[in-house]
Amino acid sequence: MKSSLFIVVDGIDGSGKSEIVKMLHNYLFSKNKRYRILTTREPTHGRYGNKIRKMLRLEKNPRSSREKIAELFIKDRQEHLKNIIGPFLKKSGNNELNIVICDRYYYSTIAFQGAQGLNIKTLIGKNKGFKKPDIAFVLDSEPSIALKRIAGREKEKFEQLEFMKKIRENFLKLPKLLKDNIRIIDSDKSLNEVFNDVKKEVDKILT
Ligand SMILES: Nc1ncnc2c1ncn2[C@@H]1O[C@H](COP(=O)(O)OP(=O)(O)O)[C@@H](O)[C@H]1O
Ligand SMILES: [Mg+2]
Repeated sequence: MKSSLFIVVDGIDGSGKSEIVKMLHNYLFSKNKRYRILTTREPTHGRYGNKIRKMLRLEKNPRSSREKIAELFIKDRQEHLKNIIGPFLKKSGNNELNIVICDRYYYSTIAFQGAQGLNIKTLIGKNKGFKKPDIAFVLDSEPSIALKRIAGREKEKFEQLEFMKKIRENFLKLPKLLKDNIRIIDSDKSLNEVFNDVKKEVDKILT
């Protein structure tokens, strides 16, 4: 019997990650009393994560600072795994299953900083030592639809149509480039339909 499960939800801005993470958490929480669940996200609220957030908020040109941002994301991820994800997955309770649901992971670093012009193979190399999720969902939305969904939010560095198209293309290339268990989920459908597709895959792993 598995004692831990590491799930990642990734995709472009406005693809529905936050909503799906919430729905998945609620679903798993009520599905089985043996499940201990942690939801978490990248960038984190740690020292490197906070630097990244600040840069994304203040910088307006999507192509700038690519080396710096990639480096900060790698450092943030190291800390995230060491301090938060790793310890939670390792806790051994009485017959419990530890589940981490993570909103964004190295797939984003590869897709975003790849779209900024860094070499995709190099980015993959920099991330290859990190723990692989048991399953990773890439929520795939048409960038124009995703942008409309987040129209009310303050625009961040990467939230421009042409740039988001490149990011999306990179996400879609990932299953061929990585040996990870990646599922591309069409997230232009209704939230309930998207969640249903995700739930089916998670249920398969849990049975
Ligand atoms: N499949 C969907 N259909 C309609 N609206 C959606 C869908 N997915 C997300 N939304 C809405 O779009 C907005 C952005 O979703 P969110 O989950 O915050 O995206 P992300 O975390 O990927 O940026 C939210 O207001 C959310 O309710
Ligand atoms: Mg979100």
